[in-house]
This record gives sequence, C-alpha cells and structure tokens, in this order.
Amino acid sequence: MTNHDFSRFSVPSAEPLQIAVVGSGYVGLVAAVCFAEMGHEVICVDNDQRKVDALKGGDTLIHELHLPELLNRYRNTRVRFMTDLAEATRECQAIFIAVGTPQSETGDADLSYVEAVACEIARTLTSYKVIVEKSTVPVYTNEWIRRVIERNGVHRELFDVVSNPEFLREGTAVADFLHPDRIVVGSDTPRAAALLAEIYAPLTSGTYYQKPDHIRGACSTAAPPPLLDTSTKSAEIIKHASNAFLALKISFINAVANLCEAADANVEQVARGMGLDRRIGARFLRPGIGYGGSCFPKDVAAFRSVAEQMGVDFTLLCEVEKINVGQKKRFLSKVRSALWTLRGKRLAVLGLSFKGETDDIRESPAIEMVKMLLAEGCSISAFDPAAMDRARQVLPPAANLAYEESAYDAARDADALLILTDWQEFATLDLALLHKSLRYAIVIDGRNLYDPQVMVQHGFTYLSVGRPAATPVRDFVSIS
Ligand code: UDX
Repeated sequence: MTNHDFSRFSVPSAEPLQIAVVGSGYVGLVAAVCFAEMGHEVICVDNDQRKVDALKGGDTLIHELHLPELLNRYRNTRVRFMTDLAEATRECQAIFIAVGTPQSETGDADLSYVEAVACEIARTLTSYKVIVEKSTVPVYTNEWIRRVIERNGVHRELFDVVSNPEFLREGTAVADFLHPDRIVVGSDTPRAAALLAEIYAPLTSGTYYQKPDHIRGACSTAAPPPLLDTSTKSAEIIKHASNAFLALKISFINAVANLCEAADANVEQVARGMGLDRRIGARFLRPGIGYGGSCFPKDVAAFRSVAEQMGVDFTLLCEVEKINVGQKKRFLSKVRSALWTLRGKRLAVLGLSFKGETDDIRESPAIEMVKMLLAEGCSISAFDPAAMDRARQVLPPAANLAYEESAYDAARDADALLILTDWQEFATLDLALLHKSLRYAIVIDGRNLYDPQVMVQHGFTYLSVGRPAATPVRDFVSIS
C-alpha cells in the first residue's frame, strides 16, 4: 500500500516524540543526535557498555563533522545512552534498528544482529510500536522481522515494521541526515506511515531550517526534502539499488579512465562532457583507485546475491566488482612504470582512510594498496590526518612501515609520493616544500587531486588516473 495521506502530519507536533535507536555506529549515532536536533527525545541503545560509557562522556568514537557539537548539546538530556533495550522499547513509540549487517562469506548480508534485536524487542512489546529498519538490508527483511516478532507471541495489532533506509555519507553524515535528497518511508499500514511522517515533519515542513543555529546544508524552509511513501519491499530495494548504481557509476568512469589512458585522452574532460548531460549528472564520476568503505563493497555483493537467489541475472554487478578490484592492480603497475623495480624503494603514502574527511578504513583501497606495496618489498612512510590509529590496528607492525606527523615528513627522502585518499588537505600542499622534501620529484596520484600542468610547472613528474602522464621536459619519462 502506498500514497498514504500525511497532510495531518505536515507540521511538527508540539510534543516531542519518543524514539529509540538501536546501534550506535555511523547510522545509529548520527540518527540519534539528529532526531534530538529535530526536537525529539531519544534513547540510543548499544550492547557494548564501553561504547555507551564513552558516548555518555561525550566521546563520539568516530570522526564526523558536527557530531561532537550535537553530542555535547544533547547527551544525557535529549539523547540518553543505555544498554537496556527492554527499557527503551517500553518508553518509545518508534524503535529504529541501526545495527550492523556485515557481509557473510557468501556475499549475503549477515542479518543475525537484526534478528537478535527483533527477538529482544518482541519480549517487551505490550503496547503499539513501530519498528523501523534503518540498516541496509535485503528485500524481505521486513517480512522476516515481522514473522520473528509474531513467532515470539506478539499480536500483529501491536506493531508495524517500516523500512526507512538511510543515505548518509561518512564525513558529511550529520548534514546529509538533516538535508537529505529524499526521505524514503516504506510501510504497509497508514498508522505506521503517519508516525514516520510525524517524526520527519521538522524537516519535510521546513521548520527545522528556521532554527537560528540549525546545521546548514542544501535544504531550506523554501525547499524542504520530499518524503517518498513506498511499500516496504520497494524501500528495501531503493537502498540497495541506489548504492549499487553509485558503485556502477564509479566503476564505469574508472573503465573510461583506463580507456583514456590507452588512447592518450583526458578522463576529466570526458567526465565533464558526460556529466553536463543532466540525465547522467556530474557526481560520482571521479575516477581513482576504486570505491571502498563500509557500504559499497558490501551492498553490491549483497544485492548481487539477492538477485541470484531470486533467479534474476544481474551479473552486471560482477563486472562492477571486477573493475573495482582491477583499479588497484593498475595503480600498482603505474607505480612500477614510474620507478621500474619496487623492492627497496622508499615511498611516501598520503591517505589511509577509504575516502577523505573520515577516519574509517573499512574496505579502504588505500590500505589494500599499502599491503600490496609492502608485499613488493617497498618501504613506506605513511601519513593520514585521522586514520593512522585505525590503520595501526590492521596493518601488522613492520620495520618497513612508518607513520609520520605530516605529508612533508612522509615525503622526506622518498623515491616517490603516492596520493591514495582524497583528503582536502592533500589537494592544497605546499608544492615547493614537497619538491624539496622528496628524493625524486615524482607524484603518483590515485585521486586526481592536482592539475598536471601545475605539477609540471613545479618540477614534478606527475602520473594520475585517466590523464596523460606529465613530465618536465628534461626529466624522466614513464615507460608503461
Ligand atoms: C555511501 C553512499 O554514498 C551513501 O549514500 C550510503 O548511505 C553509504 O555508502 P560512503 O560510503 O560514506 O557513502 O562514501 P561515498 O562518498 O559514497 O564514497 C564511497 C567510495 O566511493 C569511496 O571510497 C570514494 O572514494 C569512492 N568514490 C566516490 C569514487 O571513487 N569516485 C566518486 O566519484 C565518488
């Protein structure tokens, strides 16, 4: 059932709603503080007591813009942290499940955490609640949650299950949550849909954007975000299909970049030419060493697996994955083409997180590259503005791997500098100082952060992705 009548809920209610959020990872924690910022009373539940204590004390645990200020504003007042899901269930009208759905060995999403939460909620349900699935899950998960709760003896009238996928990106998570392109609410009953409409009314009515200290972003009172009312299954598919499509867009431009390299064309020009077509759009056409992070690799695999289980040929997604893996191998060949042999070479590496402005290294192409370079016998001096502590936890300590305090420290006496993550600060380095620090003025940029002409003017040999190699006239020539 879709197209419920929300007109009654287009203005926020005077009373705050009571919301529970289960899971305090990126999605859960950001949702919890943002619901508070929208005026609601929130209980954020996590079964990890240490995390709960840290959050109560004001430690966000993740590096995310606006999160420290919102956590400090609302912690222990409008957002309470606890481990007790039963208490949260009793007190709240809506319970958002935002626990992890990691990838299993077969590529499927592992839904055991979601199931465990559903069972625990079922044990305490005595009055009507809406259970909202916010984690990225395969189609039919809502039906399973419903079945599990009923199997635990809860009457169907006492609850509804809704799918409300989250589209926030790491690094801009708070602004993305409060300024979404769209809010998707997949529900099969008007009662549940109405509660979700009420929760999001501060955004959809535009009143949030009138608050003098509101977090700035693309939405405004004049242009509030739309709420899309769908069936639960459609909402589940919207999330997977969106992430898979974005991953496909990146793999597509990476394949085009490889073609540009072969044809001596420039992928930046090609991407611009494509992106100006409004049907294609300019975003997510940045080539590089491949996509990573906690979502795209996992969601592409899970979507492929869902299609396979339902007998639908979606091998297109296998190609998306193949191109993504291939980008790292191509980059390694590029390093080799610039330096000839790799054993014993000293390389400066800028960037370890899976993308700029985050300390997250999950499925980071940069970490994979470092592993590949170490296996080739290189020695590495790495710098990342935020992800070095996390990198230390996954990269085994080695004599040939050092972590430095700055990009220039990493560059000191290196045979070449590699840019692996698109941190903004790596795009504005002091090129003269960098030139002086390096042993050889060679920059191999896996994120296309610089204009090749500018690099040549500063005396660098500059290799990037999908653009002709740029070399100062009397210097070194790359042999591929
Ligand atoms: C993504 C989705 O964008 C978000 O909607 C969803 O909720 C979670 O997954 P996130 O993982 O935070 O968000 O990062 P995103 O900015 O989408 O980048 C993902 C990866 O793609 C990064 O490794 C990034 O470097 C890479 N990327 C992105 C490219 O290589 N080229 C691009 O043009 C864009």
